[in-house]
Amino acid sequence: MKKIRALVTGGCGFIGSHLVRQLLISNNFEFVLNLDLLTYSGHPENCADISDSRYCFKHASINDKQNLLELIKKEKVDVIFHLAAESHVDRSINSIEPFVRTNIGGTQTILEVIKETGCRIDLVHISTDEVYGSLGKNDAPFTEKSPISPRNPYAATKAASDHLVQSFVNTYGISAIITRCSNNYGPRQFPEKLIPLMILNGIKGDPLPIYGDGLQIRDWIHVEDHVNGIIAAYDGLRNGNLSPGDVINFGGENEKTNLEIVNEIIKQIGNSTSEIKHIKDRLGHDRRYAINNKKAKDVLNWSPKIIWVNGIEETINWYKNNEKWINSIISGEYRNWISKQYKDDF
Ligand SMILES: NC(=O)c1ccc[n+]([C@@H]2O[C@H](COP(=O)([O-])OP(=O)(O)OC[C@H]3O[C@@H](n4cnc5c(N)ncnc54)[C@H](O)[C@@H]3O)[C@@H](O)[C@H]2O)c1
Repeated sequence: MKKIRALVTGGCGFIGSHLVRQLLISNNFEFVLNLDLLTYSGHPENCADISDSRYCFKHASINDKQNLLELIKKEKVDVIFHLAAESHVDRSINSIEPFVRTNIGGTQTILEVIKETGCRIDLVHISTDEVYGSLGKNDAPFTEKSPISPRNPYAATKAASDHLVQSFVNTYGISAIITRCSNNYGPRQFPEKLIPLMILNGIKGDPLPIYGDGLQIRDWIHVEDHVNGIIAAYDGLRNGNLSPGDVINFGGENEKTNLEIVNEIIKQIGNSTSEIKHIKDRLGHDRRYAINNKKAKDVLNWSPKIIWVNGIEETINWYKNNEKWINSIISGEYRNWISKQYKDDF
């Protein structure tokens, strides 16, 4: 069977760095090219320990069309796993421009490049459950048929990119699928997001800022379950179980309020002196996300494997044991962001 040559965009980010590793575990991939611009959330440290000769890193932007076109042709790429994005809702509320440029413009570039090669290059477009909007407490979880109804600027740009992908499948016959996953947690997540922020503050004994009443519900999934889903979706596209234009949802079957998450983290850290501090709620904060996994289970034979209590314990231990990574990540940019974002709270 022909070995696969893959391009991962955003491979120095949180999920991308796990996907790159997982692809290299598989013998099906003869080449894994990680293209990353190394923005504030992308770090070479996330892939620094990868010594596989099939792995290659390229520091570049998905918005640089000519470079992308030449690279894809030169490296004879078979599939693009597209993860590069601006990914933090709070930042999109403060400034939408980078989100439009990267999430919409960058996806547009990738689609045009695939079209212009004139070859079959599969695209696995990594989207999010946030494109579906918000659920009430008793609403049924999102399915792939739920209406697209984004409610914050980040989600709106991801929804726009999903629509662009669908339009290129329909108009130009591009071989693309879309995955929509719930909130991820695990090692190497940039500590502006809820779980790593609470772990780091909890370890240091700093206050634990929680938006509003903390009763917002998310469906948490371990990042390794997500990347296994992404690979299973690509397998599904290759073996015909999925068709171009298909959407596939992934979720952890693990709905929890933010307060439950933070209490579990503090319990597991053990001797933390940190206390929860309720702060002004995020603007337009979605109340609940939940995912129906049935299609992924039925069509891809995928299911989430990592149990929350084990996954969060392993994640906390990873942060405790990786001080060097934390020190390299917590740069001036990170400190500026935290002091700006929480300036009225501490
Ligand atoms: N984190 C989650 O819980 C979650 C859930 C569902 C879907 N997603 C999606 O998964 C993808 C990855 O999310 P993440 O949490 O790993 O994000 P992240 O912010 O950790 O990583 C994003 C990566 O993209 C890179 N990047 C940004 N702009 C770029 C550009 N113009 N060119 C090349 N690289 C660029 C960054 O340097 C970084 O390495 C995103 O598309 C996100 O929407 C994330």
